[in-house]
Amino acid sequence: MKKIAIAIDGPAAAGKSTIAKLVAQKLNYIYIDTGAMYRSLTLQVIREQIDFHDEGKIVSLLNDLDIELNQNFEVFINKQNITEEIRANDVTNHVSKIASIPAVRDEMVKRQQNLAADRGVVMDGRDIGTRVIPDAEVKIFLIASVEERATRRHDENRKKGIPTDLEKLKKEIENRDRMDSERASSPLKKADDAIEIDTTSLSIEGVLQRILSIVDQEV
Ligand code: C5P
Repeated sequence: MKKIAIAIDGPAAAGKSTIAKLVAQKLNYIYIDTGAMYRSLTLQVIREQIDFHDEGKIVSLLNDLDIELNQNFEVFINKQNITEEIRANDVTNHVSKIASIPAVRDEMVKRQQNLAADRGVVMDGRDIGTRVIPDAEVKIFLIASVEERATRRHDENRKKGIPTDLEKLKKEIENRDRMDSERASSPLKKADDAIEIDTTSLSIEGVLQRILSIVDQEV
């Protein structure tokens, strides 16, 4: 069967990674969480106390930073496992600033294109269908209302024992979407040929089946 590239984009907390992992598992494809790459760099910027506006330093930090994603959904920087750390609030609330730096994006996109070179890949992010793999055979744009997205993240946090304020979460998600959509360099945007799926009132299984049937027509 032909191996293709599947791009899944959309705003924050729309369920992209949950769905992308399941699609990859079903098809036996590799899964690449590009948000984890921007989060990894942000974590290292915070750790090294680099000024968020010092683009030169941030870019040279990235050039020396080895970011590895394995198929157990673990993330490593310079061989250190940072899977949990990159989900911390401090990282979430600064990542869009780091991701808006054009030279950072150029380097990340290059790395992501290398990872997708052999196809058989499900990649999720903000600019996968528009910039990273513009010729992906399947492009999905996942959306959900901000209330639904905040509630899902809130429930997820509660299960992990992390107390969060729903209203604050909503504001943070809206803020991140605004920054990601308004940046000059490859902003969050639905590709013209992407299929939009509103997951607000769909189950995970429902979204998965929809995507698998779209994939079926391509392979
Ligand atoms: O997907 P996730 O919410 O983990 O992404 C974190 C942040 O990384 C996004 O809010 C966005 O600023 C940035 N990002 C990006 N381009 C991507 C993936 C993520 O700018 N392809």
